[in-house]
Amino acid sequence: MSMQSIQGKPHASGRVPHGDVTQRVGVEAITARGVEVETLIEKLVDAAGAEFTTYYYYTILRMYLAGHEDYKEICEDARLEDRAHFELITPRIYELGGTIPYDIRTFADRAGCPDAYLPGSNNGQYRMDHPRDIVRNATPAQILEVLLEAERCAIRTWSEVCDMTFGKDPRTYDLAARILNEEIEHEAWFIELLSHERDGEVRPSGHFRRGEPGEGPYSKNRPFYNP
Ligand SMILES: [Fe+2]
Ligand SMILES: [Fe+2]
Repeated sequence: MSMQSIQGKPHASGRVPHGDVTQRVGVEAITARGVEVETLIEKLVDAAGAEFTTYYYYTILRMYLAGHEDYKEICEDARLEDRAHFELITPRIYELGGTIPYDIRTFADRAGCPDAYLPGSNNGQYRMDHPRDIVRNATPAQILEVLLEAERCAIRTWSEVCDMTFGKDPRTYDLAARILNEEIEHEAWFIELLSHERDGEVRPSGHFRRGEPGEGPYSKNRPFYNP
């Protein structure tokens, strides 16, 4: 590009040299605005790990809500939306120059939230005497309590990511805020269900069923790829 054509175009060049693929202006720009990118990447990996493991554990918790179709359906929405959260945030880790761990065990261990074990499973260590021996004493109230606390951990996590990026990294902030919107809904759902199931008290959440399971009104990926 000639000097004449970039005159008067202040964004035509910057600190990253022309054609350099070892640096990212997308990282430079947020660093200049005060984001500690390495810290953010680590936080996002922990958060993605929590979404991924929660998706796994909610699969089990949903199964053991046997006989409660309404609870199963709502747990399913929260489960699929956590998978959407993992899908939504993981590409951002790579855009920032990071990667998720190559070993899934490492990923699960560093998840930012506790394992959402099935109640009665002895923290996941339940030993079967027979191949089809399963935990039979997990009550809906106990399971709803695990679901509720998992959502609370997610709200704390994504609120922290919003704090780290607000006014500095609009893209990560937007993704985290989309996820946070749904985590807040999930908490309200499980407060309503647990309050009614365990305490016999009405605490409405404003919930009505998603259009389809795990719709993810804020976090769905499709608009990002097919705008
Ligand atoms: Fe989530
Ligand atoms: Fe959630």
